[in-house]
Amino acid sequence: GLPEKVKIVEVGPRDGLQNEKTIVPAETKIHLIDMLSQSGLTVIEATSFVSPKWVPQMADQVEVMKGIARKPGVSYPVLTPNLKGFQAAVKAGAAEVAIFGAASELFSKKNINCSVEESLQPLRRGYESSQRGRYVSCVLGCPYEGKVAPEKVAHVAKRLYSMGCYEISLGDTIGVGTPGSMTEMLEAVSREVPVKALAVHCHDTYGQALANILVALQMGISVVDSSVAGLGGCPYAQGASGNVATEDVVYMLHGLGIQTGVDLSKLMDAGAFICRTLNRKTSSKVAQATCKL
Ligand code: HMG
Ligand code: MG
Repeated sequence: GLPEKVKIVEVGPRDGLQNEKTIVPAETKIHLIDMLSQSGLTVIEATSFVSPKWVPQMADQVEVMKGIARKPGVSYPVLTPNLKGFQAAVKAGAAEVAIFGAASELFSKKNINCSVEESLQPLRRGYESSQRGRYVSCVLGCPYEGKVAPEKVAHVAKRLYSMGCYEISLGDTIGVGTPGSMTEMLEAVSREVPVKALAVHCHDTYGQALANILVALQMGISVVDSSVAGLGGCPYAQGASGNVATEDVVYMLHGLGIQTGVDLSKLMDAGAFICRTLNRKTSSKVAQATCKL
């Protein structure tokens, strides 16, 4: 059956904005994050502590972390690729960090300049003290390797879980999955990792994200990543579009009678704010719809 409640992990300020060519002022990022927390979202990935040479858009991470109005009950995890990033994140007051591995060697090399195995090493060197969780990329396909075997995803997910990652988010980085491949992959992963510890992270490149999320819910997953206004893409996955829009996920979940704690109208205000500021059209179907119910 479907879960009664779903935890939405809002990744717009990180996954959404990291791909913007023009540098977005820290002040705008801070305002966006604060609007998102006011909408009732309880997990907002705020920024990443990656190399500014690799992703210049995230170079203001400390300023962003300092500027947000931390709302009680809301967590603001950040992405960290290595020990240097982890230490900087802790210093900036991050209570939770997300690390990222991949189910594909070539993607790992392009994204974080090391092998999959190497990417799992930092966990053993000082990451122990902080809560952490998160990503396996390319779970349903890789921009460099094509098809990815469900067993490979299960292997990396199991490694992260056994090292103490409390939540493993399965990333369809380039949005190529369908309910068929999603089911197959989730069956393989849930043989190795309890389904309670899994999340899905769907980019919507092929328009399959909501269908893929529904399949995941039916398989017992109750943590869903999404991005306000469907912002984003990954700088190391050319052509990949943004995450599924949070507005659309919330609309679907509420329609299914699943609680999210999110006020859709406040969420839409946050989406409208960032689209206006970036001078761009929203990718959320719900926000585009003019016949409001
Ligand atoms: P590298 O070049 O091999 O690293 O990059 P390095 O150790 O040689 O360092 C290069 C320079 O960066 C040095 O500076 C370091 O000090 C500095 P220099 O000495 O030349 O002046 N540096 C740092 N600065 C700040 N913070 C740090 C840091 N680390 C090194 N943490 C590295 C390796 C991992 C650093 C690089 O590849 C990197 O930053 N990659 C991040 C790429 C990224 O952010 N990708 C997007 C996020 S992943 C994603 O979107 C997928 C996801 O959404 C899930 C999905 O959809 O599947 C999560
Ligand atoms: Mg992503």
